Amino acid sequence: MDWTQRWEQHNGELVLGGVEAGKLARTYGTPLYVMDEGRMRSKMQAYRQAMTGSRLEGEVLYASKAFLCQAMVRILAEEGLSLDVVSGGELYTALSAGFDASRIYFHGNNKSEAELAQALDAGVGCIILDNETEASRLIHLLEGTGRRQRVLVRINPGIEAHTHEYISTTRNDSKFGLSMFQPETAQFLRELAHQPSLELEGLHCHIGSQIFEANSFASAAEVMLNYLADLSRAGLSLKVLDLGGGFGVRYVSGDEPLEPEAFLPQLLELIADGLEARGLPPVRILIEPGRSIVAEAGVTLYTVGGTKATYGGTRYVFVDGSMADHIRTALYGASYEAVLAQRVEAPAESVYTVTGKACESGDILILGIPLPQPAAGELLAVFSTGAYHYSMASNYNRLPRPAVVLVHEGKSRLAVRRESYEDLIRNDVEEAYHE
Ligand code: LLP
Repeated sequence: MDWTQRWEQHNGELVLGGVEAGKLARTYGTPLYVMDEGRMRSKMQAYRQAMTGSRLEGEVLYASKAFLCQAMVRILAEEGLSLDVVSGGELYTALSAGFDASRIYFHGNNKSEAELAQALDAGVGCIILDNETEASRLIHLLEGTGRRQRVLVRINPGIEAHTHEYISTTRNDSKFGLSMFQPETAQFLRELAHQPSLELEGLHCHIGSQIFEANSFASAAEVMLNYLADLSRAGLSLKVLDLGGGFGVRYVSGDEPLEPEAFLPQLLELIADGLEARGLPPVRILIEPGRSIVAEAGVTLYTVGGTKATYGGTRYVFVDGSMADHIRTALYGASYEAVLAQRVEAPAESVYTVTGKACESGDILILGIPLPQPAAGELLAVFSTGAYHYSMASNYNRLPRPAVVLVHEGKSRLAVRRESYEDLIRNDVEEAYHE
C-alpha cells in the first residue's frame, strides 16, 4: 500500500488529520487508536450521495460493530446516517449519545427478551428478525401494547462472497437468517405479514465481508429479487430490500476497494431494472457499510520497546500493544502495513515481524514487514486499523485498552479514554460463597 497517497508527512514525520504523530503520542500516550474524522465524514457523505438520486429510494445504515463510541454516534447523526446495532450494548451507546431511535435498525441472531424490550422501550425504528424464536419473543412482548413494530427478516440467499470467490455450499450452513431454499421460510414470512403487531417491511441479506467485486452484490441482489418475485406471486408484497454491508477496504497494496460513488448508482439501476422486469413495484434499498467507513481512517500508534533477532532467523519488533488491541492478524491472518512514524522516509533495512506484549506466540500484529532498524522509543504507525480494532479489543493479560483520539484539521480530541488499572479491577469482587 502506498500510504503516502493517503496520509501526509512533514519533515519525515507522519501527519494524521493535520497533527504530527509524535505530538499525538506525547499528548495521549501509546498504544493509541487515531481516527481521522474528516476521512470518516467523507466516506459517510460519499455513501449517502451514492444512494440518492436513483429511481429507488436508498438509505445508509452504518454497521456500528466496526467502531462505536459516543463521539462516533454524534458524527453519524450529523451526517444523516442511520444505524445498525447488534446488541443491547451498541443500542445503549447509540441512545446514550442521543441518536434518533427511529433511525436505528436492530440486528443480531439471538436477541434476548431483555434486548428486545430495550429496543421497544426506546422506540427503535426497525428490528431485523433472524429466526422464528426471535419473532415469537417479539410478538409476545408486543401483546396488549397496541403497538406495531416495523421488522425485516434476514434471509440467507445461499451465496457467500469471499473477496474474489463464491463459496456457495458452506453458506447454507450459516447461523444467520433463514434460507430461501427452505419452503418453511416463505410460509413463515406470510404468517408474519398477518401479525397485527408487526409490520413486515422487507428482507435483509448480507453476503460477507471485505468484498472487492461489484458482481458479488449484483448476484445477491438478483437472487433476492427472484425471491421477492416468488413471494409476490404467493401474495406477499414487500417494500424494503436491505443488502447488508461488506464493502472491502485497502489494508495493503493490491487491495482495490469499490468506490461507493462508482458502483452503488449502477447497482441501484440494476435493481430498478430487475424490479421492472419482474413486474414488481419499487422497493427502498438499504446498505450497511461498517468497515469501509472507518477502516482507512484509522491508524494505531505504538512505541517500540526493542528488537530481537532470533536464532531461527526471525527479527522481531516489540511494541507496547498486542493482539489484545489488534486481534485481526491472529484471528484471520490479516495483513497490514506500517512505518516508523517519525522516520517515514528512512530506507528499509530488514524484514521484521511486529509483535506485542501478550504472552502468546500468536501475538503477531504484522507478519513480515520491511522497516529501517527501529530503536527503542521510536513510534510505529500501523495503517487501516479503524474498523474491528477498538471494537474487538480485549483485556487479555490485563492489558488496559488504548485510548481513541479523533483528529481533524490540525486538532485532536479524545473520544475514548485509555483504560486505567483501576478500570481493570472495577468489576472484581471477593464475595463469600452463599446459597
Ligand atoms: N451488516 C451485517 C448484517 C453484518 O453482519 C456485517 C458484518 C455488516 C453489516 C458490516 O460489514 P462490513 O461493511 O463492516 O464488512 N470482525 C470481522 C468482521 C465481521 C463482520 C461481521 N458482520 C473482521 O474484523 O474482519
